[in-house]
Amino acid sequence: MNDHISARAAFRTSQLEEFEGEGLNPTDNRTMGEIIAARFSRRSFLRGALAATAIAATVSPIALISAENARAAEGASRFSFKEVEAGVDENHHVAEGYDADILLRWGDALFPDSPAFDPANQTPEAQARQFGYNNDYVGFIPIEGSSEHGYLVVNHEYTNEHLMFPGIVKVVEKADDKNPGKMKTELVVADADRKRVDIEMAAHGGTIVEIRKVDGKWQVVREGAKNRRITAATEMQLTGPAAGDARLQTAADATGRKVFGTINNCAGGVTPWGTYIMAEENIHGYFVGELPEGHREADNYKRLGLPEGTYAWGKFHERFDVSKEPNEANRFGWVVEVDVEDPNSIPKKRTALGRFKHEGADNVVSKDGRVVFYLGDDERFDYVYKFVTAGKFDPANRAANMDLLDEGTLYTAKFEEDGTIEWLPLTFGTGKLTAENGFSSQADVLIETRRAADLLGATPMDRPEDIGPDAANGRVYVMLTNNSKRKDDGVNAANPRAKNAFGHIIEIAEDGGDFAATKGRWEILLKCGDPAVADVGATFSTETTKNGWFGMPDNCAIDTEGRLWVSTDGNSPKATGRTDGLFAVDTEGAARGTSKLFFRVPVGAEMCGPLLLPDMQTAFVAVQHPGDGGEDWEGFGRLSYYEDLSTRWPDFKPDMPVRPSVLAVTRQGGGKIGV
Ligand code: FEO
Ligand code: CA
Ligand code: CA
Ligand code: CA
Repeated sequence: MNDHISARAAFRTSQLEEFEGEGLNPTDNRTMGEIIAARFSRRSFLRGALAATAIAATVSPIALISAENARAAEGASRFSFKEVEAGVDENHHVAEGYDADILLRWGDALFPDSPAFDPANQTPEAQARQFGYNNDYVGFIPIEGSSEHGYLVVNHEYTNEHLMFPGIVKVVEKADDKNPGKMKTELVVADADRKRVDIEMAAHGGTIVEIRKVDGKWQVVREGAKNRRITAATEMQLTGPAAGDARLQTAADATGRKVFGTINNCAGGVTPWGTYIMAEENIHGYFVGELPEGHREADNYKRLGLPEGTYAWGKFHERFDVSKEPNEANRFGWVVEVDVEDPNSIPKKRTALGRFKHEGADNVVSKDGRVVFYLGDDERFDYVYKFVTAGKFDPANRAANMDLLDEGTLYTAKFEEDGTIEWLPLTFGTGKLTAENGFSSQADVLIETRRAADLLGATPMDRPEDIGPDAANGRVYVMLTNNSKRKDDGVNAANPRAKNAFGHIIEIAEDGGDFAATKGRWEILLKCGDPAVADVGATFSTETTKNGWFGMPDNCAIDTEGRLWVSTDGNSPKATGRTDGLFAVDTEGAARGTSKLFFRVPVGAEMCGPLLLPDMQTAFVAVQHPGDGGEDWEGFGRLSYYEDLSTRWPDFKPDMPVRPSVLAVTRQGGGKIGV
């Protein structure tokens, strides 16, 4: 037995607010001399940006800049549905008049030969033919332009062993270091053996599966010729400027181009040419060991919190032990592109998009045809990025687009106090990105993207998660989930709250509505949290009900009509008195800043996805790690694990564990969602 659950809990919690660390950014960009303590206020924004325009404080200056939309003057919410009541229980809840049907659960068959899910007798081979664990990003690649037939692509971010495997957890009472004299209860998970590690590795990665809507209900097409599981063992290729670099070479791969697997794929994207993008996020948890004394990667790894040693993979697979294979960790932390049209294609790790804790890779075609990828680096005090391809998207020639991601410019964002944003290029040989600072090539800049961005003076953010561009109006929405470690003297205009427990959302308007622009304007769309508690300083509109507000924005989707949907990670009985969910957020007119709860998850879960199909008649949502928690919910009141779960969602059978699942939400009788 080992104290694994504490590490695992810390790993999970490191994505939440109570992590002990202060973030990994050692620079003082966070105090930003020139804008120290200059707390953002709407008035100052207006004075600087639009002094001549007399407008109500509830109307967005950016909305008026784009001035394209008559709706901005109307003032009514663009969402019409009866919102769900916020709260906590074992089940999911969707707005009245909608169906939320389970489409895919952990362990479900993806192929005609997939073994039936048998949680008591799991094997790596079975898992590799079944839907993986902890579904996060959900994308849809239409077949022949249909909104009723296509490939669903889903990331499997990580595994929760205490919820997945029977017979491995012991409940122990021990002294509480933080409260002398008090005891606390902990779950202690047995050390993993080789088989369990290999099941975990097979439960990671992604799923590509054909789905079809029949009589208004979605079905999985198991016979789909393109169906595929990608795992932590799938062969991949490193491409772009860093591929082949000595720092990417290992004992097993002298070419520095061939790597196996992708891990901790959080959010992602689908490109205009129909490929699937998987973003590698918290890679540090998968590596163990210590680098050899004086190794050149020491500072690089420290900046990423590597190795953290949450998982035991390194015990059985030496490449995850940095003392045995010091360069393997440089082969993770990238953005991966998968050609779903060929189930045997080798996924490509596109090094041009940088190496950090990639949250997602939502993207949009700019005015001149170049493609722009918005990238968050999810860590306290880390940065917002975007990548602009050098080449242009050719809608008539798919093959011509297949390597667009190997050439282009990676930028990091500097948010100025006056409401402007500057995108700073991470280009070797320019500015401080030279030999003097230890960079000898663009490969070095990309392998150590964070350090390069530190040197350029990027703005340290409150954990950038999903970033969603809206092609229709040239705006971009940045989810900043929280940062309880920001101190009073560390606030900046774009991150104006010290101890930001509930996060905020920034709206960017790129200059001229051009996503490839290197300058733009920004403002805060929403400061999150309970608006009824004055100290929290939340800025939801007064139309937002006690059900509609939220904390911890994480993923987002923008539907065909340009409406913003936000899913959350970290709401709980303790944090906000509610579970996570999917919220509809108005961005225009007098309704700007109004949020309504559309769907909520079962206890212990977070809300991932979300995705609205082009016809807006289906929303896909992903329920991740349901049942991982419940101790602070009065309906359960203790730690949750395989044999004693706070919920057995979605099957509610005594012999079936809780299962992360993707749901298809449709309107009863048909029609658009939330209209
Ligand atoms: Fe995997 Fe940033 O959440
Ligand atoms: Ca996320
Ligand atoms: Ca998150
Ligand atoms: Ca998440």
